[in-house]
Amino acid sequence: MAIERLVEPTAASNDMDEERIEISLRPITFTEYIGQEHLKNNLKLAIEAVKKRADGSTLDHILLYGPPGLGKTTMAGVIAHELGASLRVTSGPAIERAGDLASILTNLKDGDVLFIDEIHRLRRAVEEVLYSAMEDYKLDIVIGKGPAARSVRLDLPRFTVIGATTRTGSLAGPLRDRFGIIHRLEYYKEPEIEQIINRTAGILKTKIQPEATKLLATRSRLTPRIANRLFKRVRDFADVNGDGIIDREIATRSLEMMEIDYLGLDPADRNMLRLMYENYGDRPVGLTTIAALTGDEATTIEDFYEPYLLQLGLIARTPKGRVVTEKGRKHLQNPENKV
Ligand SMILES: Nc1ncnc2c1ncn2[C@@H]1O[C@H](COP(=O)(O)OP(=O)(O)O)[C@@H](O)[C@H]1O
Ligand SMILES: [Mg+2]
Repeated sequence: MAIERLVEPTAASNDMDEERIEISLRPITFTEYIGQEHLKNNLKLAIEAVKKRADGSTLDHILLYGPPGLGKTTMAGVIAHELGASLRVTSGPAIERAGDLASILTNLKDGDVLFIDEIHRLRRAVEEVLYSAMEDYKLDIVIGKGPAARSVRLDLPRFTVIGATTRTGSLAGPLRDRFGIIHRLEYYKEPEIEQIINRTAGILKTKIQPEATKLLATRSRLTPRIANRLFKRVRDFADVNGDGIIDREIATRSLEMMEIDYLGLDPADRNMLRLMYENYGDRPVGLTTIAALTGDEATTIEDFYEPYLLQLGLIARTPKGRVVTEKGRKHLQNPENKV
């Protein structure tokens, strides 16, 4: 596995401090949740409709997808809060057997929200139980073994599943079909990231000057989690090398030290681009070959490196593989110069 990266958009689950801060920064209401206006408007409408009906009907199952760090988990919490529902949190890999899912489902109450992170990693057998439960709120379980085995049908409470995934492609069709609302989270706009950074500064009681906020926003890969992570590092830098106030100079020096360039790329991104370009020029190269070149897993490249590089247009996807674009080549030759 490659070195731990600062701009890695996944949550660092082994870092307790980071986890604590991340929780304290998590928006709880639609108002606190910055950006993703299209998604928010759709959800507000759906939630209002459910509340208005007041006939025991529940919110449609919701599938949120998109690159890590854009606010899927956060949004699940916001939805539950706005519904006034309680939230149960689990994940695809955590549900090992169909029986585990059965016990989660039978412990839900009417109106509860069940958040399933990394839903594309559910096991096949579990997935089948889940989609029939989502469809008609019934659970078929087999009791006993051999010739004495019989199947019973249990009624389940009316719950809402919120699934999150970095990739919809690997979700089985029947499961996907059970979601009434399917929405892709988009990369944020720079002004939204600035708002998020200022919000974070406020919560963490740190002074940051507007120019520094702007600078950090341009380096955050349009991703809230990375914006918060960079902010924390720059704040440490300001405490050690200054008076704790984050100004443009402190931010610049701190980013230089982290080797994050003006597009928000770190040495690992540039290394991948360089390896692709040096070995393949402008010819397409397959995912597994890229993985072999960098020493990462193909899924790591696909989920973490690639989406942002594609978004920036530094690489492109073709039927034959990924290619370094003209823009990517220029960036490699001059990573500090805007083109
Ligand atoms: N829309 C947003 N507004 C403000 N902060 C956000 C927003 N989305 C995400 N964040 C911050 O980014 C962090 C990561 O978001 P998270 O929901 O865990 O991303 P994902 O589940 O998509 O990987 C959260 O802890 C939160 O502080
Ligand atoms: Mg998440």
